[in-house]
Amino acid sequence: MLVYAGAAALVGYFVTLVLYRLFLHPLAAFPGPKLAAATLWYEFFYDGIRRGQYTFKIQEMHEKHGPIVRISPNELHCNDPAFIDTLYAGGSARRDKYDYFASQFGVFGTVHHNLHRLRRGAMNRFFSKASVTKLEPTIHDKIDKLYHQLCTHMGDEAPVELNMAFSCFTTDVVTTYAFAKCYDFLDDASFQSNFHEPIVAGTNLGPYIKQFPFIYPLMRCLPDSWVTALNPEMGIFLQFQRDVKAQIREIQNQKGTGKERAKDHNLHATIFHELLESDLPESEKAAVRLWQEGQIIVGAGTETTAWTLSVIFFYVLNDRNVYDTLMKELEHALPDPASRPSCSDLEKLPYLISLRLSYGVSTRLQRVSPDGPMLYRPSDAVSATKLEYVIPRGVPVGMTSVLVHHNPKLFPRSTEFDPKRWLDSEGKRDRSLEKYILSFSKGSRQCVGINLAYAELFMVVGLILRRLGPRLRLYETGLDDVEILHDLFVPIPKLDTKGIRVRII
Ligand code: HEM
Repeated sequence: MLVYAGAAALVGYFVTLVLYRLFLHPLAAFPGPKLAAATLWYEFFYDGIRRGQYTFKIQEMHEKHGPIVRISPNELHCNDPAFIDTLYAGGSARRDKYDYFASQFGVFGTVHHNLHRLRRGAMNRFFSKASVTKLEPTIHDKIDKLYHQLCTHMGDEAPVELNMAFSCFTTDVVTTYAFAKCYDFLDDASFQSNFHEPIVAGTNLGPYIKQFPFIYPLMRCLPDSWVTALNPEMGIFLQFQRDVKAQIREIQNQKGTGKERAKDHNLHATIFHELLESDLPESEKAAVRLWQEGQIIVGAGTETTAWTLSVIFFYVLNDRNVYDTLMKELEHALPDPASRPSCSDLEKLPYLISLRLSYGVSTRLQRVSPDGPMLYRPSDAVSATKLEYVIPRGVPVGMTSVLVHHNPKLFPRSTEFDPKRWLDSEGKRDRSLEKYILSFSKGSRQCVGINLAYAELFMVVGLILRRLGPRLRLYETGLDDVEILHDLFVPIPKLDTKGIRVRII
């Protein structure tokens, strides 16, 4: 009897919840599929079970229901580039993250605006343009190493997986920069040892962690040896975590400030020196908080840059006209291929890089206004059902780089890689479309590593192509190895891809 009463109470609860969500919820009037508004399992089905398909489902929703849709009981999604500046506001407008979404990587993402500003303030100087410029000799050293390792494959029948080579490169750069400890993944010419697998495993788990939040605490209770047995690549990452923790302990016991160390060429100030010597409150300097920050930097700063490099190399090598134009530009700018130009020299080359088709983070990135409603006026009144939408305070709204970067009005023939779309009639860089590129996000939460990322991109594309371009041939790599088929936070092509591969002749 008690069981029946319990079951009836449970059914009653869920029926009431669904009715509330559909008819009385503050988002009830927003358009979108009723099933998505009724339950989070709808999102989970597309993101988890069907592995990163919700982004494409959301696109269909926009085609049917207009520029703003309700994609889950609590969340809206907007596909109107005119809303970018309001949503990803900087300055005095406060923007929180969506806690449900931020929880999926265990440590990534500070939800509350004020705490984020505090943490970010301490990181900004470390990642400033001036700090990155000081790092250029290190980036050059790593590029030289990458170049020499690539050269060891010259004449090989077997191809090189470029995305793995770039993953080794970006991890060596980031760990040297932030932790003064290089993992020397570039020492191995097979490029197979790096953090690629554990990071991809982490992003794969995201939808499951959102739906079953006990998974992470459970994993943390398991001995490292069990986690390594379940996922051998995870062993490398656990070692990384142990290294970072040991490094923090060492720095806490060290004499000499970060500035003093920076003056000494043999010693390098790490991000942890910066944080420990900042005026952050003591709670922010606890070891557990610092190693989380270290993990975020590696998670956010390695695969993103490596994939962007891989995509650029693919599109350049895949199109003879693009390749010839770029090589001409590079030969003119760098008459001596062995030279070590600064990033600012390379930045001037208008044809060099494009981030549109690599997307950065491919999933929706939400912002929440904690202080008051956000006003959204659709730029295309015809496709919208209303002229103005008032988004209630506290409601997460997302936008997705993949959808904006393929907006047919902004980027006609949007699947084509065409560097000319970024040039004006005189062949100079035309910046008017750049405000629609969401690869690094925008506003107060924009990527903190943007200067380092640009330095790596300009320098690797410029120098590796200048030195090795004529010898690089794509090997059994097609558009389906590059174009996004799954949005697993980062863009993933077909699941059985063998990577972006080249032969070096
Ligand atoms: C092409 C390369 C890169 C792309 C496309 C990229 C993209 C992004 C995006 C879209 C965000 C915002 C995420 C959000 O709103 O939740 C972000 C945040 C972040 N990125 Fe990057 N990133 C790149 C390289 C880097 C590098 C090289 C580093 C550092 C070494 C880095 C460190 C971070 C950190 C720490 C955050 C969190 C910032 C915050 O919450 O204030 N990223 N990145």
